[in-house]
Amino acid sequence: MQVKGSKALITGGGSGLGEATARRFASAGAKVTILDLASSHGAEVAEQIGGHFVAGDVTVTVDVAAAVEAAAGAMGGIHLCLNAAGIAPAHRVVSRSGDLFPLDLYEKVLRVNLIGTFDVTRHVAKRMAENKPNDDGERGVIVNVASIAATEGQIGQAAYSASKGGVAAMTLPLARDLASYGIRVNTIAPGIMETPMIAGMTDEVRESLTQVHVFPKRLGRASEFAALVQHLFENTLINGETVRLDAAARMGPR
Ligand SMILES: NC(=O)c1ccc[n+]([C@@H]2O[C@H](COP(=O)([O-])OP(=O)(O)OC[C@H]3O[C@@H](n4cnc5c(N)ncnc54)[C@H](O)[C@@H]3O)[C@@H](O)[C@H]2O)c1
Repeated sequence: MQVKGSKALITGGGSGLGEATARRFASAGAKVTILDLASSHGAEVAEQIGGHFVAGDVTVTVDVAAAVEAAAGAMGGIHLCLNAAGIAPAHRVVSRSGDLFPLDLYEKVLRVNLIGTFDVTRHVAKRMAENKPNDDGERGVIVNVASIAATEGQIGQAAYSASKGGVAAMTLPLARDLASYGIRVNTIAPGIMETPMIAGMTDEVRESLTQVHVFPKRLGRASEFAALVQHLFENTLINGETVRLDAAARMGPR
């Protein structure tokens, strides 16, 4: 599909990877709606790029339904959905002091990263199915965000890895389910990206994470992620795939 003239809904577009994609699509001629928490920078980013902002929480299904309707109404449809809203809290299963991984935290990570992604996907897919198909029969593209922690979760990442493993695992069945509507579904599994999500880490942790990247030996850039989203949107043959964006990284236990 072509970016110019397209309509994009980006969750988590108020920061990091979602923000970079919102900026890239807007500057390439797409209409963009950002769905992010009311407390996020989503409204600010949307204003800067001439887009729309819908405040909402991807774990609240009435928010998701309302946001998808508002986005489709404001833009006149949705061709791209990027599910970039996500959280990454870490906790050991049993900490050194004997505390158990809090079950409510485990559930929250799954609700945001996995169930939120699925809820947005199902509402968006219904709207995309109403689009007029292009010459290739395409009506829309959904890009979800996993992580290399889907396959190589580190110490403390049991919940995060489970959520991202779920996102990667559902990519093919989503693509199969939505194929008859001409909707493609792909997932990006980033390595360590320079975004506010990891900005709060100590220099020591950031340095050790950077070492995981083989070449180039630096953190990934949000602009590199946004470029891949655009490629997945434009390349009709890529479907049901999870693409690593990780400078050949393979994470160890810590
Ligand atoms: N930064 C990395 O190194 C990295 C690596 C692999 C995967 N990822 C994944 O990429 C995605 C984006 O990460 P990022 O680094 O840009 O993070 P970020 O913290 O910069 O941005 C995440 C955005 O999601 C929003 N968000 C969080 N919970 C939400 C909710 N319940 N409802 C709606 N919006 C919500 C936040 O407000 C924020 O704007 C996440 O899914 C993350 O797990 C990031």
